[in-house]
Amino acid sequence: MPPFLTVYAARVYSTRPARRVCPPKFVMKDLANTGPVMSSEPRGGSGEMFDAIAPRYDLLNRLLSLGIDQRWRRLLVRRLELTPGARVLDHATGTADLALMIARSEPSVRVLGLDPSAEMLRIGQVKVSAAGLSERVELRRGDAERLDGIESHSQDAVSIAFGIRNVPDRLQALREFARVTRPGGRVAVLELSEPQGGLLGPLARWHVHTVVPWLGALLSGAREYRYLQRSIAAFPPPQEFARSMTESGLRVLSIEPLTFGVCHLYVGTPAS
Ligand SMILES: C[S@@+](CC[C@H](N)C(=O)[O-])C[C@H]1O[C@@H](n2cnc3c(N)ncnc32)[C@H](O)[C@@H]1O
Repeated sequence: MPPFLTVYAARVYSTRPARRVCPPKFVMKDLANTGPVMSSEPRGGSGEMFDAIAPRYDLLNRLLSLGIDQRWRRLLVRRLELTPGARVLDHATGTADLALMIARSEPSVRVLGLDPSAEMLRIGQVKVSAAGLSERVELRRGDAERLDGIESHSQDAVSIAFGIRNVPDRLQALREFARVTRPGGRVAVLELSEPQGGLLGPLARWHVHTVVPWLGALLSGAREYRYLQRSIAAFPPPQEFARSMTESGLRVLSIEPLTFGVCHLYVGTPAS
């Protein structure tokens, strides 16, 4: 590991609580706040799991992706082809990195960011307020599978970055994305994938399979970053995921492999 990462890791590690104890019960509320859902263990990738890593999430993102994650998000924003006044729904918005980037891309764009993790949203809200964008970026708790409060065809674009992997019923979520997007609007999905072949493929695979879980476990918790690795491996290959988009009522406009296939950007539009 490069020395600067060692120093950085050591500094952050030293701020970690000595032992993170998960409460015996986690309480989650959905978008409509219709009541608590109880479970004894946070499901991998769930809002509760992200509640636990929220304070270190942004730092981990930058370290584990070597800063490239922001470049991938910028590309996504370009692919949304937003015009002044556009309304965008950003799912799994987390700490609002993408929501903020979208809002900054056009002075009058309005973004609604949804996420089930209260802690990720709390950190996101601090960033939104600090950026002076509270008028145009709203953050709310919500699940990508159930968009009950969002009218059909009401959005110019829908985005989700590094979030679709965590949604248990992906087809249902994609159907909802197609439903709420206006005809001709854009649905953009950014997601990590197994690095492919090529000259630097083995290096990228070593980074994903060795560096990411090691550094992630050091800074955040072994269980969470084992989940990250497992969920990337379990995510369908690009063509298969694109078929799910089609099945859900989206016409796929492009599939772009990024950085040796470590990540893919999928762009679609409602089919009808
Ligand atoms: C890896 S973070 C991505 C955050 C942000 N989009 C970004 O670019 O950094 C994944 C997010 O997915 C959220 N999530 C988990 N289950 C979800 C679901 N069913 N629907 C929507 N978001 C979900 C988590 O709470 C977490 O904030």
